[in-house]
Amino acid sequence: MVSPYVISGLAPFALAASLLAFPALAADQETTEESASTSSPMETAKSAEKGALKNPYSTDDAKVVEEGHEIYMAAGCNGCHGGTGGGGMGPPLSNPVWVYGNDGDILFRLIALGTTGLQEQGYTRKGSENVVGPMPPHGNIVKSNDDMWKIIAWIWSINPPDKSASAAQ
Ligand code: HEC
Repeated sequence: MVSPYVISGLAPFALAASLLAFPALAADQETTEESASTSSPMETAKSAEKGALKNPYSTDDAKVVEEGHEIYMAAGCNGCHGGTGGGGMGPPLSNPVWVYGNDGDILFRLIALGTTGLQEQGYTRKGSENVVGPMPPHGNIVKSNDDMWKIIAWIWSINPPDKSASAAQ
């Protein structure tokens, strides 16, 4: 690829390349150090013990809630659940019925693993929505556990768990 007339420009090129390499190295180190928090929601949902997943965020944090909604839209959840969570092709997230429960552990797994994966882990249906069908897995579409928890914080903000008829523990 390097033709002779480019050789004179090689030094600046090498410099640029090494500058580019540094952030990559730094990112690699971070990945190793924080491997627990950088695994995909799919991996997390598959490996975590039942009941172990807890949302570090609260619905009181308006910024987190807003980010959660943005991530929800970016992940395409609105295609089935509507832009404001009122439902559509998929069930509403905003009504009092929770298909499997509404605690963080269950919602994280349902969104990551989908209906089939959740049920394979031994979680069972508690309620039925007007729309009954399998939810597809999104554990590799939602990029990080952090993003997942922000989405769940947003869901709780439109549908507070303590006000729900079928609230899980
Ligand atoms: C292809 C359509 C589709 C997409 C896309 C989709 N879902 Fe679902 N979702 C469903 C269906 C269908 C159910 C009902 C599952 C069942 O009954 O087992 C469901 C159930 C849920 C529930 C439980 C609702 C309740 O009332 O208990 C939540 C929460 C949820 N989805 C969140 C999400 C999030 C967050 C995303 C995006 C990351 C998403 N869904 C993307 C179809 C979809």
